[in-house]
Amino acid sequence: MTSKVLILSGDGIGAEVTAQAEKLINNLADRYGMQVALESGLVGGAAYDATGTPLPEETLDKANNSDAILLGAVGGPAWEQLPFEKRPERGLLGLRSELALFANLRPAITYAQLADASSLKSELVSGLDIMIVRELTGGIYFGQPRGVREAVGGEREGFNTLVYKESEISRIAHAAFAVARKRSKRLCSVDKANVLECTELWREVVTEVGKEYPDCELTHMYVDNAAMQLVRQPKQFDVIVTTNMFGDILSDIAAMLTGSIGMLPSASLDDRGKGMYEPVHGSAPDIAGSDKANPLAALLSVEMMLRYSLGQPQLADKVGSAVKSVLDKGLRTIDLYRGEGVVVGTEEMGDAVIAELE
Ligand code: IPM
Ligand code: MG
Repeated sequence: MTSKVLILSGDGIGAEVTAQAEKLINNLADRYGMQVALESGLVGGAAYDATGTPLPEETLDKANNSDAILLGAVGGPAWEQLPFEKRPERGLLGLRSELALFANLRPAITYAQLADASSLKSELVSGLDIMIVRELTGGIYFGQPRGVREAVGGEREGFNTLVYKESEISRIAHAAFAVARKRSKRLCSVDKANVLECTELWREVVTEVGKEYPDCELTHMYVDNAAMQLVRQPKQFDVIVTTNMFGDILSDIAAMLTGSIGMLPSASLDDRGKGMYEPVHGSAPDIAGSDKANPLAALLSVEMMLRYSLGQPQLADKVGSAVKSVLDKGLRTIDLYRGEGVVVGTEEMGDAVIAELE
């Protein structure tokens, strides 16, 4: 069966890194006979410029009709002044919510070769391998009501709503336990149950769901402590499950443990394995178009796509090993370079990974 993959390169360095990912997919197809049909579409600022909206109907249709989506990045200074609904980020949030991609998996792995690139001492991070499972279609990101209104006395007040239904909490909890079961069976749920009623319910429901996974160990942690523990003793964690906003913040912290945000892939899945795959780094407008972007997060996003949506775990393993080999050979994009090895550009890094596939 031919899998349909939609490539949405978006803005900034998105085009450069997805070009490397596309090259990799085509190469896997040629070399191993993987049946895949690639399509492309517009999202984010690029879509706004071309059509007046960051998520055109046509893109949404294509996304609905594909088995997996690879997204580059969205956003940039050119669009920051636009009203909220027109901003590039709305394109991304719209895709997540329209496609019901509620489970966001963000692995943070510190490759031994890059332990020195982290801002933390290498003994704290070397060998680190954690997975953040972030709820992606609810919480304060989507809660209503929201906006800026006139408050008593005539001044303006901004407001957002943190809201989770039990069903939303239990489905992300199940997803997280399923991930934990395939790893070390340890799950830490992160909340702010001491202050926010919504996350007190979160803790209650996750605990309830946990009874169905007696083989897994469930712990709970307040988000402020979790942020501290992530930089104090990150290896204590295996799988973390948390809300949309806490997951946004904690996953950026986790990114830094690995040496560079340029190394982090992600998968956003619905309940049937359809997924959108994106590098966690943003559009990095400052280096866009200069062949400096690290394509490894995009290539590792392809690895996740092969594993979670395309049913190709062996090819996924090959991509993972190829990335390790290029790092072993000392190839570094500029974000990874700490005085040792050879600096290469986006294109060259992409070619090097493909050359390492056996
Ligand atoms: C992320 C990003 C997005 C988010 C932005 C671009 C809307 O920071 O994927 O982590 O906040 O979810
Ligand atoms: Mg973020």
